[in-house]
Amino acid sequence: MERGRGEGRWAAPGRVNLIGEHLDYNGGPVLPIAIDRHTTVTATIRADSDIRITSEAELGAVRFSVSTKPGEVDGWAAYAAGVVWALGDAGHDVPGLDMRVTSDVPLGAGLSSSAAFECAVAVALRDLAGLDIDDVALALLAQRAENDYVGAPTGSMDQLASVCGRAGHALLIETRVPSVSAIPAGWNDDGMQLLVIDTRVHHALGDGEYGRRRSECEEAAEALGVDLLAVASEADVLGIDDPLLRRRARHVVSETGRVGEAATALRSSDWSALGGLFVASHASLRDDFAVSCSELDTAVAAAVDAGALGARMTGGGFGGSAIALVRDDCVAAVAQRSQNAFAEAGWEEPSVFAVTASAGAGRVA
Ligand code: GLA
Repeated sequence: MERGRGEGRWAAPGRVNLIGEHLDYNGGPVLPIAIDRHTTVTATIRADSDIRITSEAELGAVRFSVSTKPGEVDGWAAYAAGVVWALGDAGHDVPGLDMRVTSDVPLGAGLSSSAAFECAVAVALRDLAGLDIDDVALALLAQRAENDYVGAPTGSMDQLASVCGRAGHALLIETRVPSVSAIPAGWNDDGMQLLVIDTRVHHALGDGEYGRRRSECEEAAEALGVDLLAVASEADVLGIDDPLLRRRARHVVSETGRVGEAATALRSSDWSALGGLFVASHASLRDDFAVSCSELDTAVAAAVDAGALGARMTGGGFGGSAIALVRDDCVAAVAQRSQNAFAEAGWEEPSVFAVTASAGAGRVA
């Protein structure tokens, strides 16, 4: 192989979801941005059909065959093995590779470090093997790796955001199609920052509870006789007998409405409207969908008290991160207020940093 063609470096971003939480597996719209935090894969084609992978964050190398099957690789390397498997299972020829992984997407912070890893491997393989797969299809193969190899029953948002991200834009994703359209995200030009408040909490029960919410949504959809809950109306929801399923469905339907309103607010740079929608989304996730936790509620309340235009949990919940839309002159106060609130509660100091809307996964060297 000619030098340079069989090797290179690829990077894929994490994501922050602006709004539209727990809608992707319900067929609803979501509005994420890819962020300026990346997982990077340096890869070289091998002469045999083995994959050998090392990570800056892990000891030792993991080795597996390009014909790996679910169940064969577990732990951190399963995300890469899952992508290799999903591509092969879809009929693509995958070459043997040496890969080295590094990342500055914080792990377990609800910023999709796993999707960033999967998508970095996926774009590297697409380029190195010359595969004819468009971005949306590639993201869905990365989602398949997560669902059917790693075994996490997630929706498609994280991988679609990581592959299809666009600098300076949010992505309005209609998950039912799926289709992705970019909307300019101009808060930085208007003197504002999007802050992440990483609570550093990762509740162990989160994974099981995520699957439980999915099942509850499926039950609610079945009760209404629809395939996907996001197509239900507010009137439909009132007709669900079971009070718990009614609350879950009310979140899905009200959040679906908020995504449309948020897209309008974004297009017209109506930042106070967007902030108000963040706050309403958080209340719905806390009260109706029950996926927040004390640390997320405290971070959101502290940000709003300190003058943020709005704040909400982002991602699956049960820990992870909140986001806050904050005027430049208020950033220090929001960071300080959330740090103080966490100190008063006796919790570890949250990590507060700004993110910008960034390009999707691709070759960087
Ligand atoms: C996690 C999942 C996504 C999505 C969000 C909640 O990040 O990976 O597919 O369901 O939770 O919106």
